[in-house]
Amino acid sequence: MASKGKYSFTTPIYYVNAAPHLGTAYTTIAADTVARYQRMNGYDVAFVTGMDEHGQKVADTAAAHGMTPQEWCDSMEPAFRDTWDLLNITYTDFVRTSSDRQARTVQKFWQDLYDKGYLYKGSYEGWYCVHEETFYAESDLEKNDDGEFVCPDCKRPVQLMANGEENWFFKLSEFQQPLLDFYESHPDFIRPVTRRNEIVTFVEGGLKDLSISRSTFDWGIPLTFDEGHVAYVWADALLAYFTGIGYADPDREGEFDARWPMQYHFVGKDITRFHCVIWPAMLLAAGYEPAHTVFGHGFLLTKGEKMSKSKGNALSPQDMVRVFGVDAYRYYFMSDVQFGHDGSISMERMVQVYNNELANTWGNLVSRVLNMTNKYYDGKVPAVADEAAAPNPLRDIAAGLYAKFDACMAEVDFTGAVAAVQELAQAANLYIEEQAPFRLAKDPDAADQLAAVMYNLLETIRICALYFAPLAPNTSAEAFRRLGLGDITAIDDIEAATAWGQLPADNQIEVGDPLFPRLDVDAIDFDVE
Ligand code: MSP
Repeated sequence: MASKGKYSFTTPIYYVNAAPHLGTAYTTIAADTVARYQRMNGYDVAFVTGMDEHGQKVADTAAAHGMTPQEWCDSMEPAFRDTWDLLNITYTDFVRTSSDRQARTVQKFWQDLYDKGYLYKGSYEGWYCVHEETFYAESDLEKNDDGEFVCPDCKRPVQLMANGEENWFFKLSEFQQPLLDFYESHPDFIRPVTRRNEIVTFVEGGLKDLSISRSTFDWGIPLTFDEGHVAYVWADALLAYFTGIGYADPDREGEFDARWPMQYHFVGKDITRFHCVIWPAMLLAAGYEPAHTVFGHGFLLTKGEKMSKSKGNALSPQDMVRVFGVDAYRYYFMSDVQFGHDGSISMERMVQVYNNELANTWGNLVSRVLNMTNKYYDGKVPAVADEAAAPNPLRDIAAGLYAKFDACMAEVDFTGAVAAVQELAQAANLYIEEQAPFRLAKDPDAADQLAAVMYNLLETIRICALYFAPLAPNTSAEAFRRLGLGDITAIDDIEAATAWGQLPADNQIEVGDPLFPRLDVDAIDFDVE
């Protein structure tokens, strides 16, 4: 079992007004890539995701479907779980905010802040966007063509909340300086650095106290010190990160203390403010250190616009899997869009990356080498009589790979990590051209050289499969299996496992079908819009 310690992180807890789409799947795939890698790297991983079920938006959606909010949320759970299963997502906890355990977390946490004197009752006069579940100052709003105030984010009309509704307020304004000090002393707290600068500027501009309860509807978690109030949806959902690692859970004693503060919260850039201002202020008030890093990734764009269900330009993960397969879909988004930047999606580019990197470089390497092994050695890994019989540049590249790959993964630079493995795979293809095993096989005097060349290639495939596994789990497991090796997911020390020379001679290999059959862009039956 893992020995390096705990590694814990979260995706957002997704709203259940619609099924997951490419945007939400993007964060989840990134988190899963980290989960799979850090498990192979010896860590005991907690990967928390879930469903954000409370609040007005979900209540409205449920009503529009003629269901109670609870019925609606229950009906949405399979849409999330099935999509994550389809994408091979290995979350360790799936937190539903309508669960009893979440209620226990939220009630305990806010009771504690109430006891500490951080809450007071007041009336909120201002604007609210139901779609974003966010309060806005009038100065933040935009106007539409009809002169109505609209949300600066989703451009929908906002509601004026000036009905004398009494709310509980969290003294967020007291945390301006503590937050600025925290950012200063924790330079990695907000990444990438562009988001950090945005947040620092925002907080320097001053913070207003935050309304954390609602009393005009009841689809939420009642606050223990004032039962007529339910927690504001963000004052609820952020705490799912606690629930997911066993906070106040009698069945999971010790887990929360062992895992908090977490390594990462992975979020989209639109919700960094909640995660980098409100959430750490809540934590500082309660006496907890915030997570090590909030990573605000960019948006997937089509034709320069954010993809979203409501804009109707969202592709379904199911379509992507049907056309590209799960592994290529995961690989493309992790490698071709630098994590942290926006990325434009185009079908041409996806097919190009698929064909170049997966079909031609990696898949072709596996096919050629396994076919040759079958032909020259009856499908058995050759024993090397004389290592010096052939040059071995692959061993040198492989020797430096762990350090490079691991440094990239620690920084969630998936693009850099993939490039490092591709370098080895490309070098192996070049090695085939240079060493020409198909010619050596015809020369009886070159037996030692052929054995060394073929062993080096097979060993390179083993090592590439291990490093590709967090991104492309199925095909890597299959490549491993075809080399006569065991379950790739059982690996928990990738550094040791990728040291050169561990592929046993005489292992029976299996050729199989191409891992990534070439794709023809004209044969693809859907577009990105
Ligand atoms: N419920 C809140 C999160 C609460 S976390 C305590 C929420 N939910 S959401 O369902 O709207 O989740 C959206 C997540 O998906 C955000 O991280 C958002 O950035 C991401 N994406 C939605 N559309 C996206 C793209 N087009 N591209 C990339 N990610 C985007 O917000």
